[in-house]
Amino acid sequence: MSANKEGDGGWKSFLWNSERKEFLGRTGSSWFKIFLFYLIFYGCLAGIFIGTIQAMLLTLSNYKPTYQDRVAPPGLSHTPRSEKFEISYNLKDPGTYLKYTESINAFLEKYNETKQADMSKYEDCKDFPQSYKDRGNLEDETAGERKACTFKRSWLGACSGIGENDKNYGFKDGKPCLIAKLNRIVNFRPRPPNSNITIRDSGVLRVLPNVIPIHCQNKREEDASKIGEIKYFGVGSGFPLQYYPYYGKLLHPNYLQPLVAIQFTNLTINEELRLECKVYGENIHYSEKDRYQGRFDVKFTISDS
Ligand SMILES: *[C@@H]1O[C@H](CO)[C@@H](O)[C@H](O)[C@H]1NC(C)=O
Ligand SMILES: *[C@@H]1O[C@H](CO)[C@@H](O)[C@H](O)[C@H]1NC(C)=O
Ligand SMILES: *[C@@H]1O[C@H](CO)[C@@H](O)[C@H](O)[C@H]1NC(C)=O
Repeated sequence: MSANKEGDGGWKSFLWNSERKEFLGRTGSSWFKIFLFYLIFYGCLAGIFIGTIQAMLLTLSNYKPTYQDRVAPPGLSHTPRSEKFEISYNLKDPGTYLKYTESINAFLEKYNETKQADMSKYEDCKDFPQSYKDRGNLEDETAGERKACTFKRSWLGACSGIGENDKNYGFKDGKPCLIAKLNRIVNFRPRPPNSNITIRDSGVLRVLPNVIPIHCQNKREEDASKIGEIKYFGVGSGFPLQYYPYYGKLLHPNYLQPLVAIQFTNLTINEELRLECKVYGENIHYSEKDRYQGRFDVKFTISDS
């Protein structure tokens, strides 16, 4: 009983001991010292933290990535993107390919000529392949924003989506188009192959100056006769060098990647066909792990019933 009373009193006097003027067992000046200690302690921690981050940032350039070895060589991507690498639709049902044509529409919007009319931002780099277009040193901040080469939708011919007949990008007629692009890499200059390339089943791919060639073919031997003619639209039927190098988002905000439209004009219908498209170049490599590095696979199934 008495112990209980004492305990009660002990608890209260621990909270506020009026005799010794202690709050929770410490005097005001003791609390103040502790508060001051932690203030300085955490202040120093925050200072060290901010200091190291600032020092890190100082070593980074706004314009040039410090570590770039992991991103090069470029990925090859295509629109419409396919789920599980598969493009499958029914010729008799426009609803089955609407998603493909709509995604090409949306993608090509930024290539409309009306959007490239401002000649303070764009430059006409001609519609034939030329050498790299040097726009000054990447680190030269005084040079400011660099101009971008125009890329006109109309260069994609039957796959441009301009004009009544091309509105469906060939899907309606069983001649679907894919739009291919090389992913952007700051300061990357793709180099065309040194020699003509021998391609299985398709003979020799002739290498032209100043353009990175792209070529698609059947993935499986047995499909060789079912693929039909493949047409390539764009500048020099490949990726022309005057669009490189790319100076990055900050210096090259209006940059347009060159495109290649690939039209499969005579695919055998009612069959699943596997195709592989590949770009070729001295500094373009392929990887077993990354299925989009320098190439992509796509599976077409066009049905009519
Ligand atoms: C872009 O061009 C296409 C084809 O000419 C046209 O259908 C579309 O409306 C244009 N879009 C814009 C935003 O100008
Ligand atoms: C590729 O072959 C053509 C002739 O078929 C030749 O004119 C050209 O020089 C060759 N290109 C290279 C890079 O060897
Ligand atoms: C399309 O391919 C078929 C064989 O699959 C062939 O008989 C036909 O001549 C080809 N058409 C054209 C226009 O090449």
